[in-house]
Amino acid sequence: MIVSFKNGRQTLSTELLAIFIDMEYSMIAEILYTFPTPKILEIIHHLETQSDHLKEDISNYAPGRLRYWLHQEPDLRSGRNGSPVQYRPAIHDERLWPFIKQLVPSASCALVAKGTGINWHRDASYAHKTAHILNLGSATFQIAVKRNSDSPPALYDQLILTGGELIQFDCKHLHRSIAVANDRWMIGIWQPK
Ligand SMILES: [Fe+2]
Repeated sequence: MIVSFKNGRQTLSTELLAIFIDMEYSMIAEILYTFPTPKILEIIHHLETQSDHLKEDISNYAPGRLRYWLHQEPDLRSGRNGSPVQYRPAIHDERLWPFIKQLVPSASCALVAKGTGINWHRDASYAHKTAHILNLGSATFQIAVKRNSDSPPALYDQLILTGGELIQFDCKHLHRSIAVANDRWMIGIWQPK
């Protein structure tokens, strides 16, 4: 069931409103900014020059997705139970990484991906709960309303994206991207816990 509790897209029932109040809703997902078309095209053009870095995703949640890590790659098993997050060096991009740091000054790593969506998942223990996506194409981003939802979640919100949106979201809520255009690039941006 899709619910939208922002921007007036759907009127909430009293029952749903009680759920949101109960979970102390603060931020689940919101579009912080939308870049103008010339800037979007500039970023996409730059990413196209970096296409050789794309490799198939090993994630079970995104089979076949093409992606690469930028700046440094976290060990997805690290960061559990207060242990430090382990990183290995990743693709160095002296244009794109400084731009990402302008958007999210505390960013520690980023994932560039092209085409193909990703199924319901939470981001691993390396990631602070507040994450960002720079979306560069058509896609629908969906996120569970409640943090402890079963998968698939019974209640979720969605953002229908056309390109250029900088999204901030709570990556510990189940989330997925569907209806992803083949030529859609995205950059996931994480900060340390
Ligand atoms: Fe994610």
